[in-house]
Amino acid sequence: MHKSVLVLGAGSVGKRHLKNFDDLGCVVSAFDPREDRLHEAAGIVNLQDSYSFLTDVDWSKVDGAVIASPPSFHIEQCALLLEQGKHILLEKPVSPTLAEAESFLAKLEQSQVKLLLGYTYRWFTPVIEFRRRLEQEAVGTIYSCNFTMSAHLEDWHPWEKYTDFFMAHRELGGGALLDESHFLDLMLWFFGMPKSVFGKVAKISDLNISTDDNVDLVFEYEDGKMVTVHLDLYGRPHQKRITVVGSDGTLTWDAQTNVIQQSNAMDGDWDAHQIEAERNEMFVNLAEEFLQVMAGDCEPGCTLKDGLTVLHLIERIRESSQSGIRLDL
Ligand SMILES: NC(=O)c1ccc[n+]([C@@H]2O[C@H](COP(=O)([O-])OP(=O)(O)OC[C@H]3O[C@@H](n4cnc5c(N)ncnc54)[C@H](O)[C@@H]3O)[C@@H](O)[C@H]2O)c1
Repeated sequence: MHKSVLVLGAGSVGKRHLKNFDDLGCVVSAFDPREDRLHEAAGIVNLQDSYSFLTDVDWSKVDGAVIASPPSFHIEQCALLLEQGKHILLEKPVSPTLAEAESFLAKLEQSQVKLLLGYTYRWFTPVIEFRRRLEQEAVGTIYSCNFTMSAHLEDWHPWEKYTDFFMAHRELGGGALLDESHFLDLMLWFFGMPKSVFGKVAKISDLNISTDDNVDLVFEYEDGKMVTVHLDLYGRPHQKRITVVGSDGTLTWDAQTNVIQQSNAMDGDWDAHQIEAERNEMFVNLAEEFLQVMAGDCEPGCTLKDGLTVLHLIERIRESSQSGIRLDL
């Protein structure tokens, strides 16, 4: 029996989900307030239904739904899906604010509805391999780690003005800290909760946006390990990489080349492992897991609670940035 999946928001990632679920043999439908987006989606997949208004959705035809709208709509749409008893694949971040998301958690936990959260890098082969090496202490005891994400916002969606994209708008849930919280999620997935944070969140470039575009964070762990995170929306060329330095060497992953490098040689004689994986792989793996969750065959590998932990970090980071004080977590 083919599952029927409704995607809320037929933008960049929404169309990707539509195509992936279609490829996996699902019947797919889309909701988007923009007609042009529904048109584009219909050019990619065979849509069972196409809705401009959520009130028109025929829920009897929906088994599960993907929320791929701007973050400011995520929780109200989660609440609607819960009301309809539909399993949810929610794109990250859970919501722009923690309080709104926390009130939804209690309702979700009292229901039979499952929610899978799309911090998609958890489903990406190079990141899984990187984490495996950390667990096997490939570079010994970990002393420090740096996450860097730098990518000019104008390059993200070349088909539209960056000022029209939700990322440019604070009220829609844009900004580097919220959107690139992928790396906060990975930090928690790799190392657990840090002891403290000191952070600075700012708008420093000439981008015409109402959100932050520069984030620098220092996390301290109970065992003395230090983790730094840099996120920006103005960098060219784009960089996305993780570097871990341990007692027995250094481990890096570069997302642009998908190479994992490891070395303990002073002169930088690296053992390089090219991983054959393209970005869509993580979305396909996530979609496959959602189908298993819907069938009751597995529990979500990334949960609403995981997303709330990220939002808790984000709130403390904002507090630290405003006060200029290092804060306990
Ligand atoms: N997991 C990942 O790696 C990844 C990658 C990209 C985007 N995302 C997330 O997916 C979400 C969407 O990002 P995007 O890049 O596709 O943005 P986008 O702007 O390309 O698409 C958003 C779509 O939502 C539509 N929309 C506006 N209001 C809506 C509403 N109330 N209900 C439903 N749809 C509405 C817009 O018309 C647009 O078509 C964000 O939360 C983003 O962080 C995740």
